[in-house]
Amino acid sequence: MPDKTPADINADIPAASRRIDGAVHDSRRHESAHKHVSGEALYVDDIAEPAGLLHVQLGLASRAHARILSLDLEAVRRAPGVVAVFTAADIPGDNDIGAGLRHDEPLFAEDVVQYHGHPLFAVAAETRDQARRAAGLAKVEYEDLPAVLDIAAARATGTLVTPPMTLRLGDAEAALKAAPRTLSGRIVIGGQEHFYLESQIAMAIPGEDEDVLLHVSTQHPSEVQHIVAHVLDIPDGAVTVEVRRMGGGFGGKETQANLFAACVALVAKKTGRAAKLRPDRDDDIRITGKRHDFEVDYQVGFDDQGRILATDMLFAARCGFAADLSGPVTDRALFHADNCYFYGNARMASLPLKTNTVSNTAFRGFGGPQGMVAAERVVEEVAFATGLDPLDVRKVNFYGTTDRNVTPYHQTVEDNIIGPLVDELEAWSDYRARRQAIRAFNAANPYLKKGLALTPVKFGISFTFTPYNQGGALIHIYTDGSIHLNHGGTEMGQGLNTKVAQVVADEFQVDIGRIRITATTTGKVPNTSATAASSGSDINGKAAQNAARALKARLVEFAAGHWNVPEAAVVFTAEGVRVGDRLLTFREVVKAAYMGRISLSATGYYKTPKIHWDRAKGQGRPFLYYAYGAAVAEVTVDTLTGEYVVDQVDILHDCGDSLNPALDKGQVEGGFIQGMGWLTTEELWWDAQGRLRTHAPSTYKIPACGDRPRRFNVRLVQNSPNVEDTIHRSKAVGEPPLMLGISVLHALSDAVASVAGHKICPRLDAPATPERVLATIERLRAQAAAGEGMA
Ligand code: MTE
Ligand code: MOS
Repeated sequence: MPDKTPADINADIPAASRRIDGAVHDSRRHESAHKHVSGEALYVDDIAEPAGLLHVQLGLASRAHARILSLDLEAVRRAPGVVAVFTAADIPGDNDIGAGLRHDEPLFAEDVVQYHGHPLFAVAAETRDQARRAAGLAKVEYEDLPAVLDIAAARATGTLVTPPMTLRLGDAEAALKAAPRTLSGRIVIGGQEHFYLESQIAMAIPGEDEDVLLHVSTQHPSEVQHIVAHVLDIPDGAVTVEVRRMGGGFGGKETQANLFAACVALVAKKTGRAAKLRPDRDDDIRITGKRHDFEVDYQVGFDDQGRILATDMLFAARCGFAADLSGPVTDRALFHADNCYFYGNARMASLPLKTNTVSNTAFRGFGGPQGMVAAERVVEEVAFATGLDPLDVRKVNFYGTTDRNVTPYHQTVEDNIIGPLVDELEAWSDYRARRQAIRAFNAANPYLKKGLALTPVKFGISFTFTPYNQGGALIHIYTDGSIHLNHGGTEMGQGLNTKVAQVVADEFQVDIGRIRITATTTGKVPNTSATAASSGSDINGKAAQNAARALKARLVEFAAGHWNVPEAAVVFTAEGVRVGDRLLTFREVVKAAYMGRISLSATGYYKTPKIHWDRAKGQGRPFLYYAYGAAVAEVTVDTLTGEYVVDQVDILHDCGDSLNPALDKGQVEGGFIQGMGWLTTEELWWDAQGRLRTHAPSTYKIPACGDRPRRFNVRLVQNSPNVEDTIHRSKAVGEPPLMLGISVLHALSDAVASVAGHKICPRLDAPATPERVLATIERLRAQAAAGEGMA
């Protein structure tokens, strides 16, 4: 028997006359799209409630930093419908829900309140309304402590929540001294609220002995399992966490679900009744972490051709009161502070600062976007200083393909396609002609000014925490030929389950409809990683493929023996299973295998190859590969009011050999809009008492339909498979497109710069709200009047 793998055999067979429905690389709708639209998709709040379910709400602190002198919960306990009230004293295990169990994040604040909104207790009542009303009746005496509320104040105290990191390439200090020209500045970058449509929610159902089952809207069921076990002081094995889908996560449910899950698990085990907690939107926004805001100080050395020779950048981040994921988030900011550019000499350092605000967390891009926004500011500064078109400065600094290709963290960029990608977009979007047209428009219009910008993206794919780069899957085939698919990833709208099902359908050459997509549960695939870092389909797709291949190998071996043909003559095709000259249905083969006592269940496992990272040295290969993209944005600004519209956006984005172009295009569009919202209208505002005052859609403005680009053209790069052996040579797409939104910030900046004849870099910070745009226009006019920017 020749030593052929099933994959080799499949490669040998002539093209089938029929294609399976839902093959890999086909545009296929999201597995639940119709249910999302009709309302039939079940979210945690839609699951039939067990009899006797208690509704839980949290009692929140009303100080940013204070000692708790007394906590009087009598009125809460006596309120109508209240069944139980729990504080830190009632926790059987550890009062600790921090990511990685760092012991810096209590479930309920004990002696000291660390931010305005810090949960103090939980109240369980017969109805949600009763629980909400009761939660407001606590009497708390505080002794105020000095509150550190923003980056400036935190810099003065210098307290960090987690160790900082420094990256070094070459000798930045010497190169800055030697550079023909240098400049320095600061950019302020705002944070972002996730605003997932489904708010946080958890439901716990107590079982026998220590057992508890939880339905949680979480990107990280395994961590919820650990946290619940730790808080209740029971083994991990007693806790099962299930999630069928989230109504959006965006990083906001990577660690932030821990609080709600631990709380309902506590209530359920203490009362013996099922318990559910769905905070109001206002409470959700107040008590869950957000994207980190940053202040970045930069110094850059360059020459008259706009070539960057050295950079020195310091990334100060507001982390909030606890570490959460601030370490990896600020690290990833540094990993993207080069974007697509070779700096030659670089020093980059992070400053993860402690503040008395909510503990900030993962948000699509995980600090990478902030790093990239800083990189683009540096490029913009060089463009204004040299008088070159920013696009030309970008191009002259792109990483090379054979030289000039080492990043500040010493990974060599091996898969660089940014040059040709940008050339293609430049031509397709008609960038140069539109640049001219905009000049003419601006010359003719005194008040309305247009701006144009092309910005590139290079985003590293893999978790920088190396152990997370592993995944598992479980496949059962039933005797009727139906396939039950489970994997460690979670579905949050991105289409992961559809992609993984396509992969499995492809292996067996069965229509995707035969594959049953099931809820993610710690009971089926254990020790999973968060579905994050865009690596969901990379990791779980490969794990599921491995499980399917294991089953297929068993079926092939069985069929060869059973029907007495060589193994190479057993081939899965879209028409059915060819066994010699027989054509059998998948079901017939499966049924026969069962009768022949062949196991029809298999697990699959995958770990990302090649990656390694030494944080202390700041050197290694943290990423398996990069995803690339670029966007051109055109805007019109009303210089009398600061208001603007996005006229046109053209995007060319790299998904390798896309597993599903329809889903990937959706990710590109959604990611772009979310990135644009972050940098334009979404503004988080805390008052002097440390109260977040933008905790509802009335004050926190996410993009709506009316804010979308008037013309929105999105294309995926064609014929550009991943050079790495990823699942069917595709690339991760979840986060990278968010950073395409940076083009809008730069188009706004370009429009603003026109009021001073493009002689002064506007230094437009983010978010570029109409208010900030107007203020920047006025500042620029004053600077120009004072003679700045005169050659
Ligand atoms: N798309 C939708 N519709 N909803 C989401 O919550 N989260 C994003 C991205 N796209 C998100 C989304 C984030 S932050 C990540 S890390 C990836 O999806 C996670 O999924 P993936 O790894 O399967 O791409
Ligand atoms: Mo995404 S921020 O990695 O969940």
